[in-house]
Amino acid sequence: MNTARTIVVGITGGIAAYKAVNIVRAFVLNGDSVHVVATPAALRFIGKPTLEAISRHPVYSELYEGVDEVRHVAIGQSADLIVVAPATANTIAKLAAGLADDLLGNTILASTAPLVIAPAMHTEMWNNPATVANIATLRSRGITIVGPGYGRLTGQDVGAGRMEEPDTIVAAAEAALARSQSHDGVEPSGEPTQDLLNRRILISAGGTREPLDPVRFIGNRSSGKQGVALAEAARARGALVTLVACNLEVAPPAGVEVVSASSTAELRDALRAAADTADVIIMAAAVADYRPQNVQPGKIKKESTGETFTLELVKNPDILAELSATNRDGQVIVGFAAETEADRDRLLNLGRDKIARKGCDYLVLNTVGWSDGFATDSNTVLLLDRLGDIVGEASGSKMSVAHRILDVVV
Ligand code: C5P
Repeated sequence: MNTARTIVVGITGGIAAYKAVNIVRAFVLNGDSVHVVATPAALRFIGKPTLEAISRHPVYSELYEGVDEVRHVAIGQSADLIVVAPATANTIAKLAAGLADDLLGNTILASTAPLVIAPAMHTEMWNNPATVANIATLRSRGITIVGPGYGRLTGQDVGAGRMEEPDTIVAAAEAALARSQSHDGVEPSGEPTQDLLNRRILISAGGTREPLDPVRFIGNRSSGKQGVALAEAARARGALVTLVACNLEVAPPAGVEVVSASSTAELRDALRAAADTADVIIMAAAVADYRPQNVQPGKIKKESTGETFTLELVKNPDILAELSATNRDGQVIVGFAAETEADRDRLLNLGRDKIARKGCDYLVLNTVGWSDGFATDSNTVLLLDRLGDIVGEASGSKMSVAHRILDVVV
């Protein structure tokens, strides 16, 4: 419950306007002060009395009402967050151009609050090059675009363009607000925030190596940069950090206890030894799912293996699932999921299945590929909770992503 926030919900003229009532209601039930700014076209789809009753505030629509209060400036300046849902193709075009020919356009231009928009229109309008370019413009300004979803449209047709469900829009709006408030671990005074003071945090970082023989291994491309950034960020916030370092390509930060592990078996032993006393466990390491069944005592010689060579692999224990199954009360466990799936909805579904399988409290979901995610200095992640809800999003340096993950843990 948060009584301090002022949320402006902009409603524009699309049939999905009736669903905006649920968005207004969700914020009101959360204790927010919600002000609806509806375009005149929106009020042809949904009545002012409904919106006033649900929002518990007058609903404004006209630019030339309440001129003495300079209403657009007053509403815009008071907003902590503006959500436009549904956002029609027309409103999207006006926002991209910075037009202010109605109260909503004026309000948005007069505000510095994060802006979240939920487009809703027919597939052809969504795919129109003008809309595509306008959306790209809004995204490049840091505006959050939620959806649209795919499904049944107003008539018999089915396609992309359906407004996202209200709870998805509210979750994305919360994430945008949290992002804008994220302090990167630093107070306004410039001092590191100490919200993890004396908390014991156990972090695994890097990638495991499964030996085949004394000189070879099966490994992965994880550099350990994200885990190391997490260790450094947690230490700066006052935590007592143990970093289980698996074949790092970067130096571990000063001021943290470092335990080296190479194979999954060693990582498991190191984590088990420290898990009991940890308040938080973050499994950032990329762990091999399989290991060679037999590790040869001497170097495998191609002269003895021939033209093809078959390796028998056995499954490794899932350390994250084991730790989650035995965690003690109050211990927070965070897993990672690196996926090559680029489609956001499918990525989310993979993440939701994974957190259910692993049983951890939070899952940091990111896409990796030949050039993304691994060994780079930046990252883009979604944070899911046990219910599969998005509780955070971050994009930027691995250090800023680390702080955003820790914000959620805190
Ligand atoms: O199943 P997947 O490998 O995608 O799961 C990733 C998460 O599970 C990461 O947090 C990783 O550290 C952890 N993991 C583990 N033990 C394994 C495989 C993955 O703890 N054998």
